[in-house]
Amino acid sequence: MKIPIKKGFLGNQRRITMMMDLSSTCDILCKQCFRTVLIPKSAKVSTDQIGILEREVFPYIDRLALSCTGEPLTLRNFKEGLKAAKRAGVPFIRIQSNGTHLSEEMSEFLIDEGLTHLGISLDGATKETFETVRNGAHWDEVIGNIRTFTRLRRERQSSSPSLCLNFTLMKENAEEAVSFIPFAVGLGADSVSFSHLILESWEMKDWSLLYDAPRMNALLADLREEAKKYNIPSHIPADVPDNIIPFDGQLIEDVPTHSGPCSAAEEDWMFMLPNGDIFACGNLQDQGPLGNVFQTPLKEIWLGARNQNFRRNALNGCVEGCDHCKIFASSADPSHEMSYLARRLTSRAAAEMDFESVHRRREPSSSAQTAPAHS
Ligand SMILES: C[S@@+](CC[C@H](N)C(=O)[O-])C[C@H]1O[C@@H](n2cnc3c(N)ncnc32)[C@H](O)[C@@H]1O
Ligand code: SF4
Repeated sequence: MKIPIKKGFLGNQRRITMMMDLSSTCDILCKQCFRTVLIPKSAKVSTDQIGILEREVFPYIDRLALSCTGEPLTLRNFKEGLKAAKRAGVPFIRIQSNGTHLSEEMSEFLIDEGLTHLGISLDGATKETFETVRNGAHWDEVIGNIRTFTRLRRERQSSSPSLCLNFTLMKENAEEAVSFIPFAVGLGADSVSFSHLILESWEMKDWSLLYDAPRMNALLADLREEAKKYNIPSHIPADVPDNIIPFDGQLIEDVPTHSGPCSAAEEDWMFMLPNGDIFACGNLQDQGPLGNVFQTPLKEIWLGARNQNFRRNALNGCVEGCDHCKIFASSADPSHEMSYLARRLTSRAAAEMDFESVHRRREPSSSAQTAPAHS
């Protein structure tokens, strides 16, 4: 049996990996983004609340994603958020951005302020594809911003923030995926990351390469070879099986117990919405928050029975509510279509997720006994 829970938390020890956004918003609308079907409830961390994070949350954080589901660089309080995390001594801070607001002045700020890692999503190697997928973003502007960033970093003889360029694989951009690697090298990227398309709506199935395993796996092999050729660190997802068992449309009524690895427990994750609600993992939002960091000290939330039980059970390989968590699904059950579908498309429990507006989904099949994931 595994050790139930690591000891010594909240002594002098930092151990939490925190994933959060300072705001629920984004300035563009990419065609594959969950925002095309769901609108997150509007929320923004205020300047006073950044003070609370600095005093009561950041001191316990080892690794911080200061943005993960929204766009950080458009936010007025982004700089204050980063400064607060630095003042609180967080050793590793990353952001994920669409690059539209990566101005020269912002690049200088990120480099000088000591951001650890910058991820920028491009999803294409040409203007045409980029602007088709990244609706509202302008290729010349974003590529110019990246060039300015890498130039400034060179001039300062700094290796941080490290730069990763991201690419979500789909039919629209597949032909540019291999050339994306030398393109990223030319831009001065330190790494590249490719990911399978998560199907956020039934329409997205038409864009997915998952159902054409020979083509997808040949592409993945080419990507691995190209990354090796250019000697650039890369994240390239695992091959897909050649017959994915289709999801039959039957919503999961009782979210089953998951047996298997759980990164959230093993790496001490916490996920925070911009309203301060906190969860053990972003995939557990339908179960309701463990607490709110603007009302209850993080230490109290961590030591609370729900959080402790979740972690104890998960470390012992048994957690409830993670019906097909994307973190393990691709390796645990890649042959099932559910692995590639957004969670709410398969689970009635996801109807509890706190979204402001939801477009009703198209049913996967007329015979399936389904109900709208949100109604
Ligand atoms: C939701 S975005 C938020 C951060 C930032 N706005 C950006 O675009 O990088 C985080 C990452 O998810 C990726 N993404 C969006 N929709 C996706 C999907 N359906 N499947 C896989 N990745 C997706 C984006 O391309 C981006 O790399
Ligand atoms: S930039 Fe990021 S958050 Fe915004 S729509 Fe695109 S993928 Fe979604």
